[in-house]
Amino acid sequence: MTFKKLEYQKTNKSDLAQRSSDFLRKMKSRRSIRHFSDEPIPIEVIENIVKTAATAPSGANKQPWKFIIVSNKEIKKQIREAAEKEEREFYEHRAPQSWLNDLEQFETNGEKEFLEVSPYLIVVFKELYSEENEERNKNYYINESVGIATGLLIAAIHNAGLVTLTHTPSPMGFLGEILNRPSNEKPFLLLPVGYPAENAKVPDIKRKDTKDILVHI
Ligand SMILES: Cc1cc2nc3c(=O)[nH]c(=O)nc-3n(C[C@H](O)[C@H](O)[C@H](O)COP(=O)(O)O)c2cc1C
Repeated sequence: MTFKKLEYQKTNKSDLAQRSSDFLRKMKSRRSIRHFSDEPIPIEVIENIVKTAATAPSGANKQPWKFIIVSNKEIKKQIREAAEKEEREFYEHRAPQSWLNDLEQFETNGEKEFLEVSPYLIVVFKELYSEENEERNKNYYINESVGIATGLLIAAIHNAGLVTLTHTPSPMGFLGEILNRPSNEKPFLLLPVGYPAENAKVPDIKRKDTKDILVHI
């Protein structure tokens, strides 16, 4: 391994507080959206968002992720139909009552119109191992790495001025089949991306107080 000099520009102490509070304010305005506009978005924007996610740190730099951008209407329809089949089963039979109680405030149900309406779906896959010349190479801390990358993806979507929903149709196996992914890739999350529908509403949720999530020692 060769090493190179770190490219780093030091921020003055006096600017640290301003910069961190500006970013905090920006991120506080992010919300999960369940009603999308079908207004087109330039593909370059979505590619930049994915490239931002791919800057994430990962265990031993294995980068165990794959991002599938779906814009094809027919494939989006197939994904919606398969997701709604699983989600209806979840809401009507599979989910324990306690889970349904926790979801009640969101007024969600088995219908997932946004999967067809939003101009793009980004489907995040985790790579269980990589394969080179029929040899399997291990990946490490896969869920942590892909989770961090997805966090950056969500922040990049918000920064661009677009909205998304972290969607987890359960189970998600159908995504690998519809998108024709190899067996070493497993679906991680499904994120519709676009502009919000006009007059989109969000549940009035509360975030925990800082004193309940932050401990100084
Ligand atoms: C891992 C994960 C899975 C989620 N799955 C769903 C989902 O399948 N459907 C949905 O409507 N919201 C889903 N959400 C969105 C959460 O309900 C939402 O993030 C939470 O209520 C906080 O709201 P906010 O994102 O607007 O701050 C999920 C969020 C996360 C982080």
